[in-house]
Amino acid sequence: MAILPVYHYPDEVLRQQVPLEKEIDQSLIDLAKDMAETMYAAPGVGLAAPQVGESRRLIVLDCAPKESPRLITAVNPEIVLRDGESYQEEGCLSVPGYYAQVTRSSRIKVRYLDLEGKEMTMDCAGLLAVCFQHEIDHLDGVLFIDHLSSLKKSLFRRKYKKLQAQQEERM
Ligand code: NI
Repeated sequence: MAILPVYHYPDEVLRQQVPLEKEIDQSLIDLAKDMAETMYAAPGVGLAAPQVGESRRLIVLDCAPKESPRLITAVNPEIVLRDGESYQEEGCLSVPGYYAQVTRSSRIKVRYLDLEGKEMTMDCAGLLAVCFQHEIDHLDGVLFIDHLSSLKKSLFRRKYKKLQAQQEERM
């Protein structure tokens, strides 16, 4: 197991459209383990393979309370039903230091394969629903900042540049 380096916006690796997985091989299983370790170490509630520079259609999530962790590993995840609207603050390990309110569906049904290749469906609400939508977006090259209004996007770009400059000063 290993903690993987996480790529940050505006790295192009975050903008790829990841193709569907045709089979669940050992490299995908190993990657899922490393991604889970990387997510817990961050700490974060979700991570998608492009964030660690891998073009695989794979996400890991854990939105459960810390005292009762519940890891979800999803291959080829897709949203098959959406309902309602929620507006919650999101952040991303690939956009460090920045948080913003994003509009999402409040309830979703997701379908995916687990690491044994078994098809799973899950009805989600609350943080888990938001997290699934955020992570699946990553597999299509979409970041949460893409959902902001153009005004908020320009504010984000200014603030993020400042944050990056501060980070470089510290290094
Ligand atoms: Ni993210």
